Amino acid sequence: MENRLLCLIFIALIFAGVQAQWDPPVDWDKNIVKKDENMVKCRQWATSFEDWSDFSANNFDITPLNNGMGSAHTLTTTKARSGKKSHMGVITSAEDNQHTGWPSVQLYKNTGASGGFVGGVYIEVWIYLDIEITDPTQWITIGEISGRTGATPGSTFISLDIGAEGYLQLGHVPSGNFRFHTFQNFGNMFPRQKWVNVTTYVDFNPTTGIAAVWQDGVLQSVANIEGGNYRMNQLHFGLYAMNQITTGVVYNDDLTITEVTTAGNSCPAESYIMTLPPKNEEAATPAPADAGYIAWVDYDIPTSGVASKGTSLVLVGTITCAVILSMVL
Ligand SMILES: *[C@@H]1O[C@H](CO)[C@@H](O)[C@H](O)[C@H]1NC(C)=O
Repeated sequence: MENRLLCLIFIALIFAGVQAQWDPPVDWDKNIVKKDENMVKCRQWATSFEDWSDFSANNFDITPLNNGMGSAHTLTTTKARSGKKSHMGVITSAEDNQHTGWPSVQLYKNTGASGGFVGGVYIEVWIYLDIEITDPTQWITIGEISGRTGATPGSTFISLDIGAEGYLQLGHVPSGNFRFHTFQNFGNMFPRQKWVNVTTYVDFNPTTGIAAVWQDGVLQSVANIEGGNYRMNQLHFGLYAMNQITTGVVYNDDLTITEVTTAGNSCPAESYIMTLPPKNEEAATPAPADAGYIAWVDYDIPTSGVASKGTSLVLVGTITCAVILSMVL
């Protein structure tokens, strides 16, 4: 009898712990410009991945299309959420280096539009993921967002990661190599073979810096950002995955980056933007020659299974819990 009581108390405590993680902390969004009638849009940058010129015209870096390292990327008509094309990254084999394939959006190079976005920034992108994680060491990074200029993504960046657990989470928060969330949704696996709306809010404010990410409108991960310097200078989505993953494909479409503020606050004025501390911690890397953008070799697009390890882990956990409960009760 006593054992059963202890067991019940134990389970109740675990439940309370999980429940505490389940709800974001009170006032978690006090430093976030909310998407309501008071939100004012300032500058905006958008692409539907129809043409490389969206990137090359501004000298944004594009990783090699065929890097000879088990991955490749291109704009494709194979799948599109809007328009005719989307961006596609393909894994063709395991290799020593990480799988990479992306066009970066280096707003700091956009000097005609006053460079990186300042303050609150919403980043909406649609992702169709068909890469499976089959081993606990494997990971997929669907995007990196950086306050720095120079070589992608610079030294102060945050990432959007999916590991063997199967859910989307912020990485490198509050600073490099840490993963400390003020809120994390553990119960919402990242779907495969479906367009998913991934919306991220970032503010690289040095004292109140914050990042939050929603998956199809569901709050997924919240964290503070340290070491920011007001500006979101560059980002990339596309293909970035652990080297031992042997096959898979990811599509990106409809990326919209919006600098926002609340009614009553003015948008960052030219003079304010220009007096911010210089952001040249790292030497800018030159964009590759145009020829590099069009040397695409056709690959057979691999198709992978649907069931993800994360989903089965949650299933096993739930079944185990049900068994324990039925034994106790
Ligand atoms: C994508 O998700 C964001 C955040 O939940 C939401 O505000 C936005 O309206 C969504 N976009 C579309 C096109 O549904």
